[in-house]
Amino acid sequence: TAPLRVGLLGLGTVGQGVIRVLRTNADEITRRVGRAVVVTHASARDPHRARDVSLDGIQIVADPIRIAAEADVDVVVEAIGGLSPAKELVLAALRRGKPVVTANKALLALQGNEIFEAAQASGVMIAFEASVAGGIPAIKAIREGLAGNRIEALAGIINGTCNYILTQMSEKGQAFADALADAQRLGYAEADPTFDVEGIDAAHKLTILASIAFGMPLSFDKVSVEGITKVTPQDIRIAQALGYRIKHLGIAKRTDAGVELRAHATLVPEDRLLAKVDGVLNTVLLQGNAVGQIGLYGRGAGGDATASAVVADLVDVARALGSDARHHVPSLAFQPSAVRELNVLPLA
Ligand code: HSE
Repeated sequence: TAPLRVGLLGLGTVGQGVIRVLRTNADEITRRVGRAVVVTHASARDPHRARDVSLDGIQIVADPIRIAAEADVDVVVEAIGGLSPAKELVLAALRRGKPVVTANKALLALQGNEIFEAAQASGVMIAFEASVAGGIPAIKAIREGLAGNRIEALAGIINGTCNYILTQMSEKGQAFADALADAQRLGYAEADPTFDVEGIDAAHKLTILASIAFGMPLSFDKVSVEGITKVTPQDIRIAQALGYRIKHLGIAKRTDAGVELRAHATLVPEDRLLAKVDGVLNTVLLQGNAVGQIGLYGRGAGGDATASAVVADLVDVARALGSDARHHVPSLAFQPSAVRELNVLPLA
């Protein structure tokens, strides 16, 4: 069978990770889907920049629209980030009937309702496991593993940069700015790290998780958001003396009145699981009415961890395209029929 041809938009941390993981695990992936999955085209703002992966055998173009709208590829991976031109590129690919895999949480949290509708209208799959908690398969866990549950609540450490900074401040006495600089150097932080430290990135991911868990539209503007920039070394010391750790959490709860969505720094008792999750690690806890609580734990940021989720989505696409079901894998984050059930609580 002919290889699945992947057009990769963006050759940053995630894009390079995707090339690396597809190459390293080529044998396993080929065995799983019955054909090879190969990046044939990639776009980069600066095609000549030195990179950690070899681009041999990949056709490199400067303008990503050439891949999204023109190139002969079977699936488009959007790893550019940001709203524009990512949105136009994703829509162009969907309109051409190309399945899309994206890691772009900001785009989905803010404009996902429109993008999912476009995907639905063209009957094309859009997959976005990598948009939440890096390598942790949180979305697949909710959609597949917990599909028999009513999900009551979810909570977790969903920004690796915040967790890394708070860990460095409390364990190593490192200053906030130095810890942030390290997180940037290690490839954890967003291009604009304000998104991390102000809690916006966590709110983006919470928006996506809640939409899937509760079957509600993406409601980023309803999330109460606060970051970690006001957390001082003294706060951390006092919390520790009292038996707590300060963790930045995303929390979504179903209540009788509606769904509550918030992302902020929280005092966690030191004997709790979340208090022990350090560094760039993320954790997602899910409460289902049949299963009880489950927890997922792992690397929430970084090229290869995030690429692990992108490649899992590529495997889903390959399987869907390989079957008669064509693109018939659910793309909507929420089920429109469930929408009227749930309000989002207005928060002070
Ligand atoms: N900047 C994000 C984080 C990357 O630190 O968690 C993964 O989404």
